[in-house]
Amino acid sequence: MTHAVEVDGVSKKFGSLAAVNNVSFNIESGEFFCLIGPSGSGKTTTLRLLAGLVQPDSGRILIHGDDYTHVPTFKRPISMVFQTWALFPHLTVFDNVAFGLRMRNAPRQTIQEEVRKTLELVRMSEYANRKPRELSGGQQQRVGIARALVVRPDIILLDEPLGNLDFKLQLQLQEELSQMHRQLRITFVYVTHDQRQAMALGERVCVMNNGNIEQLDETAKVYSKPSNVFVARFVGESNIVEGSVKSSGGGKNTVETVLGSFVFDGGSFQREQRVWLFWRPENTLIASESASGDYAFEGVVSAIETSGQVTQYVVDVGGIPIRAVKTGLPDPEIGEKAKVSVGVKRDQILLLDTPSVSETGQVERAVLGA
Ligand SMILES: Nc1ncnc2c1ncn2[C@@H]1O[C@H](COP(=O)(O)OP(=O)(O)OP(=O)(O)O)[C@@H](O)[C@H]1O
Ligand SMILES: [Mg+2]
Repeated sequence: MTHAVEVDGVSKKFGSLAAVNNVSFNIESGEFFCLIGPSGSGKTTTLRLLAGLVQPDSGRILIHGDDYTHVPTFKRPISMVFQTWALFPHLTVFDNVAFGLRMRNAPRQTIQEEVRKTLELVRMSEYANRKPRELSGGQQQRVGIARALVVRPDIILLDEPLGNLDFKLQLQLQEELSQMHRQLRITFVYVTHDQRQAMALGERVCVMNNGNIEQLDETAKVYSKPSNVFVARFVGESNIVEGSVKSSGGGKNTVETVLGSFVFDGGSFQREQRVWLFWRPENTLIASESASGDYAFEGVVSAIETSGQVTQYVVDVGGIPIRAVKTGLPDPEIGEKAKVSVGVKRDQILLLDTPSVSETGQVERAVLGA
């Protein structure tokens, strides 16, 4: 099966900075693909490479199996929606949406029909005669999306399309985008630095950092099985405890940490190897005394935050903050400064052995340069 997009060893440097560093990945036809990562990690540059707005220094970009590396933007079956949606201020909503079709010399009848259908899709039919300044931010963004969809691209690239909107509106448009995707079944490539949006929307998530891919997996897997410390920290809340492997053999590894020793089955490690224990706050057990779990520690509650629906506790265990999340309001037995016990089951702990792909890469480069 051919992929909607195939990025094959693509690099892009700006001066000496590798904005995108020898990256390879595929996007499947019709999928909702999310690109996340901190500011400056190379997300926008990746989209611009896909759109043909920047040329790679090396590597190839295939679309539906054909090499598009040197094909100009307007000949690619791709539309892009930007964070600053940049509508034409002097044109009406209708004319803004019609613009791409007029550029392609579509017949008048087709333009009328397609613009009408697309405005309906983004729920903006009533606003066809308004100017952008007469619209709210969310409405302007819907027009931006309509403008990209009207030309019926195979692939739509969205660069932080909800970035300028307030939280409630983000949630609403997020739901609408998801519906549009289900309805149209075209390929969505969605960039955000907001991992919550990626969790809500993405079928697969690609985590970028320093121009590298740290992990590309199904959304749930990126959350439950992060492949390194960077991803574990970047996606969701986490507990991470550094340790080193003390004995490894007989299929068992003992890891020494400031919280004590932990024993794990399987995996192959070297003695004294640096590793990190990781588990999610929802897997931390918390009780006023003797928490259950294979490992339990005494600590002091240093912070409690509640939304009513869920409550997050931070417990200081010998200087290490351990996070726990429970549904509902705070437990009256567990107040701030209370002495508590926190626990975790062995099978909820993931043993990570890599800080990040980027960092490991740098370590290798440093060694090579020495
Ligand atoms: N045209 C350019 N000229 C020089 N440097 C650039 C250019 N475009 C991007 N960069 C640099 O490349 C790196 C990656 O930028 P990019 O815009 O892809 O990041 P991003 O992941 O989209 O970040 P953000 O979340 O802030 O939008 C950054 O360090 C940026 O400063
Ligand atoms: Mg960007």
